Amino acid sequence: WATMADDVEAILRLKRERNAVILGHNYQTPEIFHGVSDIVGDSLALAREAQTVEADVIVLAGVHFMAETAKLLNPAKTVLIPDLRAGCSLAESITAADVRALKAAHPGVPVVTYVNTSADVKAESDICCTSGNAVRVIESLGVDRVIMIPDEYLARNIAAQTGVEVITWPGHCEVHERFTPFDIEQIRQDHPGVVVLAHPECPPEVVAAADMAGSTAQMQDFVTVEQPARVALITECSMSDNVSAVNPGVEFVRPCNLCPHMKRNTLAAIRAALEHMRHEVTIDPEVADRARAAVERMLAVR
Ligand code: 13P
Ligand code: SF4
Repeated sequence: WATMADDVEAILRLKRERNAVILGHNYQTPEIFHGVSDIVGDSLALAREAQTVEADVIVLAGVHFMAETAKLLNPAKTVLIPDLRAGCSLAESITAADVRALKAAHPGVPVVTYVNTSADVKAESDICCTSGNAVRVIESLGVDRVIMIPDEYLARNIAAQTGVEVITWPGHCEVHERFTPFDIEQIRQDHPGVVVLAHPECPPEVVAAADMAGSTAQMQDFVTVEQPARVALITECSMSDNVSAVNPGVEFVRPCNLCPHMKRNTLAAIRAALEHMRHEVTIDPEVADRARAAVERMLAVR
């Protein structure tokens, strides 16, 4: 505890000295989420908020694609990621060359790219989306067919809500692909009356077995507004910790999987990032211009 308090104090001091802000994703551990982050949220909220940051330095307590998105939207600011190994199985599943091949195979079909991708992949795309706005993004295109990459399950879950045909890519989230409908059946048996919320990166049969599917922010809003007596969040483990801290009247059933990438962020790593101004995220300017256009098109969809 002494070390933790020491790290928090040092981080708060370094933020002032460096004129830095910390953007923390909903999957950060409570000491990062509640203790040192200035802005928290899902990947859509972090991208939106990154547009309004006035500090000189942004520390992204999340994964690499989130730091790249913050850099795309703030080319003149220093964006730091505490641990360069904080990747994402979805981002790693596809390359820019793969996207070019898909476009060649399906000429004229718009490419909708989940933000969980590298800037190189975004640069080949027409528009980005997150799990929080994917339905609106797809409907904004007014077409009956899209290439939706790289999350096969998200694409199928969103297609089921829009009636738009999706051409998919076999990328999966290593955390959410592990949940099964059997897990949900067990939870309902063991915890009568439980409300089950699932992230749309889960397989479609898991989403079908849940009561509601939504982004991390949508799950949090649901709990905050509806105040169910018992809830299970079918997602990364820190979600229940962070949402329960502000909803003391709700009982959280905790079946969860850890994201090893999100967990690369620790107070010590954030402190070291601010002390040594590491690890700076950079993007080739020509790639950045094209990737930014896809992110900005997404942010323009309301
Ligand atoms: P959200 O956009 O719902 O926060 O999801 C990001 C993510 O990485 C989920 O695994
Ligand atoms: Fe990527 Fe899944 Fe981790 Fe989110 S939870 S960062 S999608 S691996």
